[in-house]
Amino acid sequence: MWDNLEKLNILVLNGSPKMNNSSTMKVTNAFLEGIKNKRDCNIELINIQALNIKPCIGCLSCWGKTEGECIIKDDDISIVKQKLLKADIIIESFPLFFFGMPGIVKLFTDRLLSMMNTYRGDNNKDTERSLHGLRYDDPNKRFVLISTCAYTDVSLVYESLIKQYDFICGKDSYSKILVPQMKTLVDVNNKNKLDKYLNKFILAGEEFVSNGTLSKECEANLSKPPFSEGAYKIFLDQFWKEEKESK
Ligand SMILES: Cc1cc2nc3c(=O)[nH]c(=O)nc-3n(C[C@H](O)[C@H](O)[C@H](O)COP(=O)(O)O)c2cc1C
Repeated sequence: MWDNLEKLNILVLNGSPKMNNSSTMKVTNAFLEGIKNKRDCNIELINIQALNIKPCIGCLSCWGKTEGECIIKDDDISIVKQKLLKADIIIESFPLFFFGMPGIVKLFTDRLLSMMNTYRGDNNKDTERSLHGLRYDDPNKRFVLISTCAYTDVSLVYESLIKQYDFICGKDSYSKILVPQMKTLVDVNNKNKLDKYLNKFILAGEEFVSNGTLSKECEANLSKPPFSEGAYKIFLDQFWKEEKESK
């Protein structure tokens, strides 16, 4: 994959409001390290929290009056759109908030309606493909969703978010890395344990850039929790106790 390219253009969209302190970005950086082990790349990081984004006003002029042009021109979206079009790999990295995407990521996503095809009443039930269809579909472009959460069972808490991404991108048209218990793994400050856990994301980055995708087995392996249920409960009880005491 991408054999004819000297360098890969990678765009990382960090949707954690914590920006540089994001635990999810630890996973994302490990994945990027794996990619860099195999290929030369230009990596650009955008913190969504730092962007000037106005909310979509729902006028649908990007679907009717124009072919994909948004009426709101005085914010950062048009620049980001150009970067999205140019990237070979787009990585969206964010924490799970209320079993979905954080508000700032939703605000950002709504403004990308112009990148989807105009809806003309088709009753498309083929979830293998994007329901609306991508206006600028590019078979060589890849999308990776990286998200971390507090719960242990990702198949339960990510159900609605994954359904949403399946509708937007098309089921199996993107790679997903869903990681449980991540903030606690960072908080316990055990460098050895963290490095060992992150190593599998470096290997995943190498696999991804070689094949252009991640196997289902690899995705399942990346979702294994770092702590047993018992140990995790002890860490969380301790964490909340210390939070109270440090008031
Ligand atoms: C407002 C809010 C809502 C959250 N909702 C969930 C949730 O629905 N399920 C879950 O497992 N974790 C939830 N979490 C925990 C975060 O997903 C988790 O701590 C994540 O690893 C933080 O990533 P970050 O450091 O990159 O921001 C929530 C956290 C916040 C602040």
